[in-house]
Amino acid sequence: MISSQQTIGFIGSGHMASALIGGLIANGLPAQQIIASDPDPAKGQALTEQYPIQVTQDNRAVVNTADLFVLAVKPQMMQQVVESIRDAVQQRKPVVISIAAGIRTEALQTWLGGDIALVRCMPNTPAFLQAGATGLYATPQVSAGQKQLAESILASVGITCWLDHEADLDAVTAISGSGPAYFFLVLEAMEQAGKQFGLSTATARQLSAQTALGAARMVLEGCGEPAELRARVTSPGGTTERAIQSLQQDQLEEIMRRALITARDRAIELSH
Ligand SMILES: NC(=O)c1ccc[n+]([C@@H]2O[C@H](COP(=O)([O-])OP(=O)(O)OC[C@H]3O[C@@H](n4cnc5c(N)ncnc54)[C@H](OP(=O)(O)O)[C@@H]3O)[C@@H](O)[C@H]2O)c1
Repeated sequence: MISSQQTIGFIGSGHMASALIGGLIANGLPAQQIIASDPDPAKGQALTEQYPIQVTQDNRAVVNTADLFVLAVKPQMMQQVVESIRDAVQQRKPVVISIAAGIRTEALQTWLGGDIALVRCMPNTPAFLQAGATGLYATPQVSAGQKQLAESILASVGITCWLDHEADLDAVTAISGSGPAYFFLVLEAMEQAGKQFGLSTATARQLSAQTALGAARMVLEGCGEPAELRARVTSPGGTTERAIQSLQQDQLEEIMRRALITARDRAIELSH
């Protein structure tokens, strides 16, 4: 999707930008087609040692070079950074992707001076292993070709889902943005139980994590609906049935529903 004539930029060269740069290069994008900025020269230097991309301390150099750039600074820096590149953005009109949590496109458009092809998205931390899940929302200014280009950036670190409404990003934040932590908590609990039964920490961890991966793969690779797959492994009178009955008596579904509602509501509260 990214042609050999196009350059992809990053403003901010922290964790998320590095993950995306790594994903793009692993997917075959030549490093010379990537430019990234960071105020800290040591960070730029470290990045070029890892990948032979172009680095600069000047955010405007990214805007003046890239066909599409990713705003990858912390949300609290965003207004200052975006306003400082507004004139360059208005002159060149590149596609802009924001990965910042909780900053609405309305605010970004205002800071950028308006009428910019802007994509807002919510990736998650498994992006660091190219196993991420990202929800994307495009403003009306984004053309079909620009959507494909934007999608190819996030698709380099995992799966992507387009959303029709920006408000859906609050739901994405609750499900996949915060989601890895829910599964880590379940893995912690399974590991603890395994240890209590006498397994070593390493064995309990490996067995529970591989089980989570296997279960997720069965769903993603079309082996069946989650409820159907659960029914298939739950023999009447067996061990799985006992555990599922216990979880349902303790209202696991209701506990998860309430947790996700509070996460979604917090995402709404934090957005501005
Ligand atoms: N990490 C995640 O799992 C995750 C998930 C979803 C969304 N996000 C979003 O991704 C964005 C980046 O997060 P991150 O975890 O990658 O943060 P990070 O590692 O702190 O990266 C931000 C980078 O921006 C640099 N920066 C600061 N001021 C700048 C400026 N004026 N111009 C250019 N660069 C500047 C920082 O440099 P210094 O360190 O030198 O200040 C740092 O390298 C955030 O908006 C976050 O909401 C992150």
